[in-house]
Amino acid sequence: MHTVKLSLGERSYDIEIGANLDEAGARLQGLCLGRKMAVVTNPTVKGLYGGRLIESLKAGGFLVMSIEIPDGEQYKNLDWVNSIYTALLINSFDRKSALVALGGGVIGDLTGFAAATFMRGVPFVQVPTTLLAMVDSSVGGKTGVNHPMGKNMIGAFYQPKKVLMDLSVLRGLPREELLSGMAEVIKYGVIRDAAFFDYLEKNREKILSLDPDALEYVVRRSCEIKAEVVSKDEREGGLRAVLNFGHTVGHAIETAENYRMRHGYAVAVGMVYASRLAHKTGLCGAAVPERVEHLVRSYNLPSDLSALGRKPAVAALMDTMQLDKKAEGGKVKFVLPKRIGEVVITKEWDEGALRDILKS
Ligand code: NAD
Ligand code: GLY
Repeated sequence: MHTVKLSLGERSYDIEIGANLDEAGARLQGLCLGRKMAVVTNPTVKGLYGGRLIESLKAGGFLVMSIEIPDGEQYKNLDWVNSIYTALLINSFDRKSALVALGGGVIGDLTGFAAATFMRGVPFVQVPTTLLAMVDSSVGGKTGVNHPMGKNMIGAFYQPKKVLMDLSVLRGLPREELLSGMAEVIKYGVIRDAAFFDYLEKNREKILSLDPDALEYVVRRSCEIKAEVVSKDEREGGLRAVLNFGHTVGHAIETAENYRMRHGYAVAVGMVYASRLAHKTGLCGAAVPERVEHLVRSYNLPSDLSALGRKPAVAALMDTMQLDKKAEGGKVKFVLPKRIGEVVITKEWDEGALRDILKS
């Protein structure tokens, strides 16, 4: 097992990579959690891993109940947060009672937001079960839900007390979900670590066949990069925005298409488009978008919108981007690569070029 520390003063916590689900109860000792605990999950994940996690928590002395949210991004909304509050109130949860998010990014974001707001904040633990949740959403404390007008429009920065990752659960993950997580992994190489990008280029087969060492390295390096960025800029005053590489266009696609495309797939297209935009804006040479597109495609991720069948209107995408909370002072901020391993956050980008890229 490997532990990555996210350093945030008294809100620091451990990300335990390679922890065994059956040891969760023991691993949560000493975190000042109350005895009452609610495992929030969905029917798919509950059926696969709920029993093991709940047994282990009970063996650790916790009084455990479970709360089920239907499976899907469309349930990441305030109605289902409210259903969590109701279950907690009916079961007399208090301010020390803890929530445990068992699932992918949807469950993690929703549960984290419920934990941030129930009784002005109760402790919570992330037990991510998708690659995407392991390398991104369970780490760093962004919690929240969608609004019909935009993705993640309602939320809070709220850090978990611990993140427990049992990598063996990735064996049962549908292929598309594994690939979706790989998009966020590729993101870390582009924004921060050229050597990691090279590693991803050279070790595709090992990674996709879930070779244990390769998988551990990919998750560890991703978490290290995210932890380093978040520890320097928890609330996205500046640097943290680099983690949004590929997300400006990606979120617009997800919203405009009503989440028909998986998050990671939309981010993959967004990374390719942002790299092309960087080239057209004169920030980088043609080799950067070419390498990004090549890597994205080599992991069977989409590099354009043809996967959707019909293309969303360019005007709709541009409008949705404008609404994205990352638009400040009227102009959308883009994260654009200067080279592999280094990006800039800028409002200076060529709108005509972006329209052309979206049309192409
Ligand atoms: P998801 O949570 O919808 O999970 C994908 C699917 O995999 C679901 O059907 C789920 O039931 C299933 N599943 C989960 N674990 C499984 C397992 N081990 N075996 C088999 N099936 C399993 O999707 P996701 O890609 O994990 O997360 C996407 C969400 O994460 C989006 O809402 C996105 O906005 C959010 N996100 C948040 C952050 C953040 O910083 N908070 C970062 C990135 C993404
Ligand atoms: N996923 C972007 C962030 O955590 O900041």
